Amino acid sequence: MFSFLKKPGPNKVTLASETRTLLVARDKTLLEAMLAEGLAMPHDCKVGSCGTCKFKLLDGKIRELSPSALALERDELAAGYRLACQALPRSDLTIALDAPLLSQQAVESYSATIVAARRLCPDIINLVVELDRPLCFTPGQYADLSVPGIDGPRSYSFAFAPKAGPARQLQFHVRHVSGGAFTDWLFGSEPIGTQLKVAAPYGEFRLNTSTAPMLCIAGGSGLAPIMAILQEALANGATRPVVLLYGARSQAHLYCLGEIGELKAAWNGPFEFIPVLSDEAPDSPWEGARGLVTQQIAGIPDLAKCEAYLCGPPAMVDHAEEELLSAGVSRDAISADRFLDHSSAR
Ligand SMILES: Cc1cc2nc3c(=O)[nH]c(=O)nc-3n(C[C@H](O)[C@H](O)[C@H](O)COP(=O)(O)OP(=O)(O)OC[C@H]3O[C@@H](n4cnc5c(N)ncnc54)[C@H](O)[C@@H]3O)c2cc1C
Ligand code: FES
Repeated sequence: MFSFLKKPGPNKVTLASETRTLLVARDKTLLEAMLAEGLAMPHDCKVGSCGTCKFKLLDGKIRELSPSALALERDELAAGYRLACQALPRSDLTIALDAPLLSQQAVESYSATIVAARRLCPDIINLVVELDRPLCFTPGQYADLSVPGIDGPRSYSFAFAPKAGPARQLQFHVRHVSGGAFTDWLFGSEPIGTQLKVAAPYGEFRLNTSTAPMLCIAGGSGLAPIMAILQEALANGATRPVVLLYGARSQAHLYCLGEIGELKAAWNGPFEFIPVLSDEAPDSPWEGARGLVTQQIAGIPDLAKCEAYLCGPPAMVDHAEEELLSAGVSRDAISADRFLDHSSAR
């Protein structure tokens, strides 16, 4: 009696290929539940744009936050594929995945305080956040930051490789996006002491085990995870040649030059840093490269043998990826992280 008044409970999701089940609360997406269980479900954007988190729905009902059709091909949809980051289970489900899932560090929620916010250049702040307990992450990954009064979390990549084990203080390079809710607040207020929630670690962008020459291409605050990945490679004793192409608007927007210099001096092999300015005054004394950072790609020696790491604005990353593929770099040798924001979420 009165069972119709009962709040619906979590739904059971059976992973057919893994012979395991998990419970998913009604307000959680399938991806959130899998990551919280420590399942290494592939994901990237979490907004239904990239298609990385696809799964095959074998049985049951879901509600989609945005249609899977925005990221998946027609034949994938016909075969039952859907996006885990957009799927709220509405009944018990049975699903299948294309590849076996590994275990990873579970995504957890942390209480945090902003302890420092320092301008690195006119439009990038180094944001330092202290957690209530240490967090383990892999350089290249990111965290979701939720500030009271701002709708939904914002993602920021860890801007350093931890020196020894888990870290309680996190650093992020946050670029001001005009009209953006979080960054307008950060750049226009006194944020120190603000309490926030941090959920982490997320993301698949990380150092691979290849020994091929590294071609790193960053735009704006996309330098943050690239620096973290290079620091990790250095700590692992890498001897691979590196070319770091960095796109910024003007000399005033070049930042982290000291850290890049230190990395270059400590690197056990050739390390070339090529800053490229898109909006430097024509009459300035700048003698370095000008134009779009992606225009420099064609001039990189032995391009087809490189392993590429791309990070920054989605248009820059897309363009760099196209150039690399057409130069013969294999898709497997390209790792990319796109800094999507609400203007690109569909
Ligand atoms: C995996 C990942 C890692 C990231 N790492 C970093 C990082 O390390 N550093 C960094 O600086 N950024 C990073 N980003 C981007 C970051 O998460 C934020 O998106 C960015 O800082 C903008 O946040 P905001 O709240 O200021 O802007 P938003 O509120 O998201 O708005 C962004 C822009 O979209 C416009 N807009 C808002 N709503 C809509 C709408 N409905 N339709 C159309 N336009 C709209 C706004 O006017 C504004 O111009 C990352 C993103 C991802 C996905
Ligand atoms: S992570 Fe789900 S579509 Fe990108």
